[in-house]
Amino acid sequence: MGHRGKRRISAFAPQTRRSFLRRAGFAGSAAASLGWLAGCSDGSDARVGRTPGSSPQVFNHGVASGDPLADRVMLWTRTTPSTDQDVSVSWMLSETPDMTNPLRSGTVITNADRDYTVKMDATGLEAGTTYYYQFEALGEVSTMGRTRTLPVGDVDRLRIAVLSCSNYPFGFFNAYGRVAERADLDLVLHLGDYIYEYPGRGVSAEQNPDEYGDGRPLGRAPEPPYEIVTLNDYRTRHACYKTDPDLQEVHRQHPMIAVWDDHESTNNSWRDGAQNHNPDRGEGPWSAREAVSIKAYYEWLPIREIDPGNPERIYRGFEIGDLVSLSMLDTRLIGRDQQLANNVDGGFTDTGGYAEADRTLVDDDQRQWLADRLNNSQATWQLLGQQVMFGQLKVVGAPNATNSANPGGQGGVFFNSDQWDGYPRAREQIWEIIRGGQAAPNVAIDNVVVLTGDIHTSWAMDITEDPNNPDAYDAGTGAGSMGVEFVGTSVTSPGFDSNDLRPTLLEQNPHMEYIELTQRGYMLLDITAERVQCEWWYVDDIESRNAQQRFAAAYQVRVGENHVVEADSQTESRPIAPALAPVSTAAVSAMAN
Ligand SMILES: [Fe+2]
Repeated sequence: MGHRGKRRISAFAPQTRRSFLRRAGFAGSAAASLGWLAGCSDGSDARVGRTPGSSPQVFNHGVASGDPLADRVMLWTRTTPSTDQDVSVSWMLSETPDMTNPLRSGTVITNADRDYTVKMDATGLEAGTTYYYQFEALGEVSTMGRTRTLPVGDVDRLRIAVLSCSNYPFGFFNAYGRVAERADLDLVLHLGDYIYEYPGRGVSAEQNPDEYGDGRPLGRAPEPPYEIVTLNDYRTRHACYKTDPDLQEVHRQHPMIAVWDDHESTNNSWRDGAQNHNPDRGEGPWSAREAVSIKAYYEWLPIREIDPGNPERIYRGFEIGDLVSLSMLDTRLIGRDQQLANNVDGGFTDTGGYAEADRTLVDDDQRQWLADRLNNSQATWQLLGQQVMFGQLKVVGAPNATNSANPGGQGGVFFNSDQWDGYPRAREQIWEIIRGGQAAPNVAIDNVVVLTGDIHTSWAMDITEDPNNPDAYDAGTGAGSMGVEFVGTSVTSPGFDSNDLRPTLLEQNPHMEYIELTQRGYMLLDITAERVQCEWWYVDDIESRNAQQRFAAAYQVRVGENHVVEADSQTESRPIAPALAPVSTAAVSAMAN
């Protein structure tokens, strides 16, 4: 999209480096992460983390890193200049938090063309190594970030937190805060709905029946106070979210690999539109809105742009030694056909428009890219990070070949047309890749683990082509299963009020092992050559800023089994982990001395 054109990186001059350290030592301001203030719409309180009485802050939105590779990682920050001018931003990166011997450094120019965001690749790094970094601009020093490159070769173990769906006016981002505290993570995955486009006025359901758009009365009404449509709107919304101290802290402590879902543009988006995009209400053409949402996303997320000439392409891969090949998919903007309406009471069946052969959820290029990755991977585990539930979710279960349970339909009644269920032929093409041309349920690609967000609830399941057919799949032994899926709940976005539906869902969906419909939190993946264990961690509440969390459940898939089973116990944290980035630059100075 061309907005990187003015980026310029040069060597970090020794004199500049000294002044950087001096400022770090004498600045004495608390790190942004220490600050705690409510809604970003709250006037002067919008600036998080200022020491009382100090001057206006340049780095209001924290620091971040992302898309780690074995030899590089993206570093991110954003400046808030007082005048509209180019801003020269220095950066430095060190293996130790005292910053006395920076390994890499440079200068980047940012300006209004990219909303004063700063993003660049720090290259020439060592694999599997933790680094600390800081920025300096306009006489101020940023808080310190911490990041980590991907390991290479023989990797024994990985620890990865998985997050999705952080709706600011619905609650406090406690899940981000708890993930930030885990010093032994290798990285954080964000599966989308990082922002929401709704007005989010923070009023009660009684005041407005459109509760989903407005959030809750928690003092967290976002800026701008209306549905975001223009480039400036999307930038303002990203800026608002980035004032949240828990979101700042998870970015400050861990590299993030993120992908968008629908709400980074607007609800239930697809290739040429969205449920919540209405050109007749003055929202303009979809292509324009999609483009500005993507531009703001790339400005505000620490993501490496795969193809600057085609910013819509976000799907990309990561190799994590011999243990994991991670494929981040886009099932949302680049190839999705429009969602269809229900064709039976309470859901839909695989008939009519749903059954059309060319109905797609990913485009041909992405599917071929995924097939090539899966077929050529040398890694033990094939992780697919993506948006919408891959496995079937039926309110009435029935084998694919029968229609007795729902006359006129086949395979039962599905619940959510926005997930893979609504694109049955597209899903069959993924099964085909996993089978490698063999007959079902043979598997050519073992150890596929699908990771999913989007639906604000927690699930563990086998993935299989015909889960309701006992001749094709045995839920007890896992025979016929072709992989597993772990679905993570939301950071704050609402799920169900109760688990009343759980017995019915388990009964109609024999491939499902774990369902939890009411809790907010995150997933913790612990990966070894023997198994992938997924743990669901839930926060106590999101109505206040609250540090309480609890372990809820653990399920795993053992290598070669392609079948999810409950784990005997939760995994242990690593006994030794790299130090978290210190919370204040003053502390850095003390350590350096
Ligand atoms: Fe969501």
